[in-house]
Amino acid sequence: MRDVAIVGVGMTPFGELWESSLRDLFVDAASLALRDAGADHLDAIYVGNMAGGQLVGQEHLGPLMADQLGMRGVPSTRVESACASGGAALRAAFFEVASGASDLVLASGVEKMNDGADVTGVLATAADQEAEVYHGITFPGLYAMIARAHMAAHGTTLEDLAAVSVKNHRHGALNPKAQFKQEVTAEQVMASSMVADPLRLLHCSPVSDGAAAVLLCPLDRAAEFCDKPVKIRASGMATSAMALADRHDPAFLDAVHLAGNRAFDMGKVGPRDIDVAEVHDCFAIAELCVLEALCFTERGLAGEATRAGETTLGGRIPINTSGGLKSKGHPVGATGVAQVIEIVEQLRGEAGARQVKDAVVGLTQNMGGSGASAVVHIFERV
Ligand code: COA
Repeated sequence: MRDVAIVGVGMTPFGELWESSLRDLFVDAASLALRDAGADHLDAIYVGNMAGGQLVGQEHLGPLMADQLGMRGVPSTRVESACASGGAALRAAFFEVASGASDLVLASGVEKMNDGADVTGVLATAADQEAEVYHGITFPGLYAMIARAHMAAHGTTLEDLAAVSVKNHRHGALNPKAQFKQEVTAEQVMASSMVADPLRLLHCSPVSDGAAAVLLCPLDRAAEFCDKPVKIRASGMATSAMALADRHDPAFLDAVHLAGNRAFDMGKVGPRDIDVAEVHDCFAIAELCVLEALCFTERGLAGEATRAGETTLGGRIPINTSGGLKSKGHPVGATGVAQVIEIVEQLRGEAGARQVKDAVVGLTQNMGGSGASAVVHIFERV
């Protein structure tokens, strides 16, 4: 396999973007990525998208987006893995370049959620219809059950959950592209309206519109496009049972653990080598479970580590410096690619007020549904 680099990045702001359609968002992000690299052609395009059909009535995004970008004729494929669609799109692009099949490949993600009716119902199509959704459960409900299981098994507290939101809003306040740029206090989190006990409004990622895109090429061609290429050192993916009740331990994200181990093996690094990471905090409890599944903390101790400041900017392992899904926003199909952009900016030294000093190795973790699919990538400054 060839070494692969990211040589261009582009994303829209995340939020309620009433003036932009699904295609506008994609074209804005993709054009920025092409311009960032000074590239004028592509060999292939991957578009991560969870629910264009259900949310805005638009399927078949591959050819549509290629055409809208002025790239008619280029092979272009939509990739779907629920909220991990963006991570899965990057993985497909990575292997296409690594294999030698193509040189210039765009990995992107896009979602337009605010135009849709019954977003909660649409998102729930990523859960097990027969075992879960038929009985009335939603994603906030599923993650509330994960939170309850974690609290029962490890003594995780409401203060631990609040600490995740406080940290991510603090980071997001430094990110001009974030949906919510205001800081929140633990008291505000714990007094916000109840969504699914014990998860409150300020424990939840929002409903968002947005798009993100990155341009990949072989590392030995990177200098043609950029003076600060970021190498994709590893890609790991795994799956688990769709239904939470079918998992051995609902408080442990086994697919994330497996995907992480695959990426660590491929990249020949371990959790201690990671300088900065973007993880899938769709609900505050998810960030704690991911930290444990990736062995950034011991099992059951992620809440304590968060409250102690280990995961904040300036801490032992800064997590979600972009603001995470909680504060930056979560346009589901775009999220996995936006995570990559934050890490690329960190490794290029271009993250501004959010910069992690001397960051060399970064990680992204993106997951679908309640963790039935998980994608982990590791990146390195070269
Ligand atoms: N965090 C912070 N503030 C939020 C928010 C969030 N997650 N969601 C909405 N708000 C704000 C809105 O901006 C609005 O503020 P305003 O009154 O100042 O304008 C206010 O809260 C009410 O917004 P509204 O859209 O009416 O909230 P809602 O009750 O319809 O939706 C949630 C709130 C939490 C239910 C919704 O954001 C949600 O479903 N989130 C989870 C999405 C999800 O499941 N993603 C997939 C994960 S697997």
